[in-house]
Amino acid sequence: MDAFNYLLCFVILSLSVLSSSTNADDVCVQKTACSCEFANGTGIDLKNSAGSSFITTQMYEAEKNGSGMDYKLSTYYFHPCFDVKPVVNGTMPPENKCNNALGIYRTANRMTLVNATTNSYQFIQEPCEWLGDSTQIVFSNDGRAITYRNGPSNTTVLLVCAQSEDKLQVESTAEPNNIILNFYTRNACPLQLESAGRSTGSTLLIVFFSCVIFYLVLGVCTKKFLMGATGVEVVPNLAFWSDLPNLVKDGWAFMVSGFKLPARAGPAASPDPNSYDSI
Ligand SMILES: *[C@@H]1O[C@H](CO)[C@@H](O)[C@H](O)[C@H]1NC(C)=O
Ligand SMILES: *[C@@H]1O[C@H](CO)[C@@H](O)[C@H](O)[C@H]1NC(C)=O
Ligand SMILES: *[C@@H]1O[C@H](CO)[C@@H](O)[C@H](O)[C@H]1NC(C)=O
Ligand SMILES: *[C@@H]1O[C@H](CO)[C@@H](O)[C@H](O)[C@H]1NC(C)=O
Repeated sequence: MDAFNYLLCFVILSLSVLSSSTNADDVCVQKTACSCEFANGTGIDLKNSAGSSFITTQMYEAEKNGSGMDYKLSTYYFHPCFDVKPVVNGTMPPENKCNNALGIYRTANRMTLVNATTNSYQFIQEPCEWLGDSTQIVFSNDGRAITYRNGPSNTTVLLVCAQSEDKLQVESTAEPNNIILNFYTRNACPLQLESAGRSTGSTLLIVFFSCVIFYLVLGVCTKKFLMGATGVEVVPNLAFWSDLPNLVKDGWAFMVSGFKLPARAGPAASPDPNSYDSI
C-alpha cells in the first residue's frame, strides 16, 4: 500500500512538472505594433521595414459579370509598425476610413463590361478600402503572422523570413473577409532582441522554485507514506523550517548591528536562549 501511495505521488508530481512545462509553451509575446519576443529573448522586429511610404503589391483579377468578364487591378498597401495617412486619388467621402492614418488598405481600378454585344468597357476607380490599422493587431503565437482586425473581417500578413528586399505579395483573396498577404523581409527572421541575461536570471529562478516545490512534494510524500507522519509532521526537515524565522531574525540583527555579536548586557545577564553562545 505504501509503495502504491508513493507511486501515486510520483505520478502526480510528474504530471504537474509536465503540465507546467506545456503551459510555458513558447509564445511570441507582442512588444510593439511590429515586434514580438519569445521567452528566450529572440523574436522578430519589423521596425527597419517601416519607411516613409507604404509597401505595395498589385493583383490582377477577372470577375464574372453577366455573360462576360470584369477586369480588376487591385493595389495593396502595407505599412508595418505605425500608421500612415494614405495619398489617394480623387476626392473621398468624409466617412471613408482612408482619410485617416492606417496600416493596410486597398485600391482598385475596374474595367467593367457595359455592353457585351459591342464589347465595350467602362473604367471605374473603386473607393479606397481600409483593411486595418496598427491599434488592432494580433501576433500569431509563432511570430510568423500579424492579423489586422477590421470589423468582422481579418487581414493577415504572413511574415516570411527572406534575405531579399522587402516585398509584398497577395497570398489569397479566396475569402474576401480573410485576405492573406505575404511579406518577405529579412526583418521577419528571428534574432536576439534582448540580452539573454534577464532570461537566464528568470530561468534560474524558475529552476530554483521548481526544485523547492519538488523537494517539498517529495519530502511530504516520503514522510507521509513511507514514515507514516501525520499533520504538520509531514513537512520535511520540520525543525529547520520552524526555526527559520528565528535564524532570519538573528541574521538580520547581526547585519543591522554591523556584523558584531550582540553586546553583553552585563556579567550577571543570563544568556539569551537564541544567542550564538547557547548553540
Ligand atoms: C528561442 O525560442 C524560439 C521559440 O521556441 C526558438 O525558435 C528559437 O530557436 C530559440 N532561440 C534560441 C537562441 O534558443
Ligand atoms: C492617380 O491618378 C493618375 C491619373 O489618373 C494616375 O496616373 C496615378 O497613377 C494615380 N495615382 C494613384 C496612387 O492611384
Ligand atoms: C449594346 O450595344 C448594341 C449595339 O450598339 C445595342 O443595340 C444594345 O442596345 C446595347 N445594349 C445595352 C444593354 O446597352
Ligand atoms: C478574425 O479573427 C478572429 C480572431 O483571430 C476570429 O475570431 C474571427 O472569426 C476572424 N474573422 C473571420 C471573418 O475569419
